[in-house]
Amino acid sequence: MTFVPKTSTEIRSSFIRFFESKKHTFVRSAPVVPADDPTLMFTNAGMNQFKAIFLGDNPRGLKRAVNSQKCIRVSGKHNDLDEVGRDTYHHTFFEMLGNWSFGDYYKEEAITWAWELLTEVWKLDQARLFVTVYQDDDEAFAIWKRVSGLPEERIMRFDAKSNFWEMGDTGPCGPCSEIHYDRGDLATQKETFADPILGVNGANDRYIEIWNNVFMQYERISTGELIPLKAKNVDTGMGFERVCAILQGVRSNYDTDIFKPIIARIASLSGVKYDEGVAGVPHRVIADHLRSVSFAIADGALPSNEGRGYVLRRILRRASRFARLLEQKEPFIYRLVETLSEIMGDAFPEIRERKDFVAEVIRAEEERFIRTLDAGLDRFDQIVAEMGNEKTVPGDKVFLLYDTYGFPPDLTRILAEEKGLAIDEAGFETSMEEQKSRARAARKQGINTMGTEGWTVFADGSTQFVGYSLTSTETRILRYREDNGTLSIVLETTPFYAEMGGQVGDKGELIAEGIKIKVFDTVKVNDTVIHRGMVLEGNADEKTMAGLFTATVQSEAQRDTRRNHSATHLLQAMLREVLGTHVVQQGSFVSPEELRFDFSHFSALTAEQITDVENKVNAQIMACLPIETTVMDLDDARDEGVMALFGEKYEDRVRVVKIGDVSKELCGGLHAGNTGEIGMFKILSETSVSAGVRRMEAVTGRGALAVLRESSAILSSLRDRLRCKDKDILGRIDGVFESVKTVEKELAQAKLKLATQAAASLLLDGITVKGFKVFVQALKLSEDEFKNILDGVQSRLAPEEMMVISNELPESGSIAVLAGKALQDKGVKAGDLVKVLAEAAGGRGGGRADRAQAGTREPGKLAAALAMALPWIQEKLA
Ligand code: ALA
Repeated sequence: MTFVPKTSTEIRSSFIRFFESKKHTFVRSAPVVPADDPTLMFTNAGMNQFKAIFLGDNPRGLKRAVNSQKCIRVSGKHNDLDEVGRDTYHHTFFEMLGNWSFGDYYKEEAITWAWELLTEVWKLDQARLFVTVYQDDDEAFAIWKRVSGLPEERIMRFDAKSNFWEMGDTGPCGPCSEIHYDRGDLATQKETFADPILGVNGANDRYIEIWNNVFMQYERISTGELIPLKAKNVDTGMGFERVCAILQGVRSNYDTDIFKPIIARIASLSGVKYDEGVAGVPHRVIADHLRSVSFAIADGALPSNEGRGYVLRRILRRASRFARLLEQKEPFIYRLVETLSEIMGDAFPEIRERKDFVAEVIRAEEERFIRTLDAGLDRFDQIVAEMGNEKTVPGDKVFLLYDTYGFPPDLTRILAEEKGLAIDEAGFETSMEEQKSRARAARKQGINTMGTEGWTVFADGSTQFVGYSLTSTETRILRYREDNGTLSIVLETTPFYAEMGGQVGDKGELIAEGIKIKVFDTVKVNDTVIHRGMVLEGNADEKTMAGLFTATVQSEAQRDTRRNHSATHLLQAMLREVLGTHVVQQGSFVSPEELRFDFSHFSALTAEQITDVENKVNAQIMACLPIETTVMDLDDARDEGVMALFGEKYEDRVRVVKIGDVSKELCGGLHAGNTGEIGMFKILSETSVSAGVRRMEAVTGRGALAVLRESSAILSSLRDRLRCKDKDILGRIDGVFESVKTVEKELAQAKLKLATQAAASLLLDGITVKGFKVFVQALKLSEDEFKNILDGVQSRLAPEEMMVISNELPESGSIAVLAGKALQDKGVKAGDLVKVLAEAAGGRGGGRADRAQAGTREPGKLAAALAMALPWIQEKLA
């Protein structure tokens, strides 16, 4: 009897074992963050990592493969972020089980094995299975009929919309055949199979697709044309979570052992019980989003304001908003990472290895969002207030909340519904579309650096890089192109390093008979090394460009770059020694002038730690360690514990850079021959880049010397100006600050004294009203003087006295009123009077009962306004 797997771990390995028994090679899941495919935001199908093989580039000669791929989908027909969590079977993160044939078996075997696994190994009820084929695919139809024995009406034909699978706008594609499972009618609990014609591929949760077999035989090129691939392939994708639900006999994916512990933890931490219906949406959203966010971070993505990081931020914020619906006002989601790592850590060790880092990034991001959340809620209230009697929140406002405050529209809908309002979804979509097309346009500009038009081609072929050992070589141009005076040149052989792995591209010169070209940058576009240059002497025409060139890099600058690059490796090794092995490179930038190194760490370094790291790096420099590079198998390198970048995809043969026995890293960059060449290492700064990521900037060799020289020049000019010894400089500066403070204080006192005296003279001629004294004055002073006078008057004014005073400036004017306590008690308040006078002066004003002030842009009206003061006071006191 075959063993029918039950737990998710058993189901995953049963799938893999089944195809291993059919001679498939197990391949690890690629990172969910694709490192080398700019057309892809996240890995969204098992076949992504095999794209090149489908297009004919299969150096390892892989014929059959099987795996479980981590995928993230946040857009598409059924994967709108805003819908996930509402139903029980769509996810942003999911595992795709797949088996592949690369030019090996085809439809016959794919269909036979699929049927065997489902019905014989997993023992699914045949009566519940439906299959679909592409409308013209008679071959697949016939195979299904023979292999499965299903009646013809259960082998359904669909058009390209459902049954022609494409990776994206371009890329490998082909007709497909899907397998759907009927879970029975939940509403009536009747196990009827009514209406599968409408059910299969309809939006319902009764007939669900579990497996897609794509028969890859075409490539879609950018003109939209389909061209046949060299070989016929099979690419399949099975929804792991759905299959688990079926084999575990539950209706909802969230009731499988993949999700249950997470849901239970959400319920126990929040104290809100899980519900399969609407009340459970927050639990489902959080459980789903936790997975995509955690794996994306574990594979190297970080929340940010653009691209992938922006999508990540949106997902996390949506989860965070739903956590608020569970009354969670403090960071919450990060507390679930531990549970996730327990469930998934065996199959995907990266989540266990990086769980502390992942949790820390999530916590910090939640904290930041919680601060804007309250601001967003205020903004929402304000929007509603501005709507008046309108019953629908306008689409652009929904978008504003989304874009500025990270409010997913489905949550804005919930907020609106609480107030009996609706939201304009179509309007929101329009705003969203506008933003998307802006982003698309920006993206196009960004990547379209190399069209195929306009090239002058002398010879085909690709460039040989000789820069590891040479800085100058003789070579010929393979092809070139000119754009507004900028040349793009592809050489047969080049010593120029193209920008890669954080190291900047080389600069230098190309010289041939009759022409001299300055190369100001070297970049890689689609694996081709492009020298970007401009003509210094001669003309770039077909005759001169066809000549024999000497290509020479600016070796002095390149040597500086090599120093900085080797120092970056030392820095990483020493940071790990001082801070711990959680320190991993998150990014780097290496130029002739400086190096920048981003790494995972949770808090700012102390001054002692910085000094410690700097000392340690310098000690390795002074030890003059040899720096050696070797090329070896990736697996051997991993066995030796070579540092590799997380989420990076490497070739099978890799270059390893070894520094003594302190550092071993995979790296394709240029390095010094010996650490002694680095000369000196000086850290310039240590700052935060984003949550959990720190940045260090440093200089080496000539750069370090320049920085130190500049500091000592500043020091020496300070010494000259302060006329003292170096050791006394700080004491002198403190002394100067002290005396400035004293002088400032004395100045302020002197000003007040003058003002008080001036004020005294203003308080001489008053008008008596009912035993009170009123002073009215018109002045023309500077603003500062006027303020000082007011302060002076206020300090001398008796309780029975009152002053109304105007000040005229060329373009403006002000009126101030000061009232003593006895007058205030009689209801004569400065604030009230100033309002009346302000209006008369064509301005605005207000203030307290004892002191108030008004300003106007029409100084001509001051006199008339001032004249109204006395009658107003007389009337008040009457
Ligand atoms: N690549 C196919 C899919 O994603 C199997 O459905």
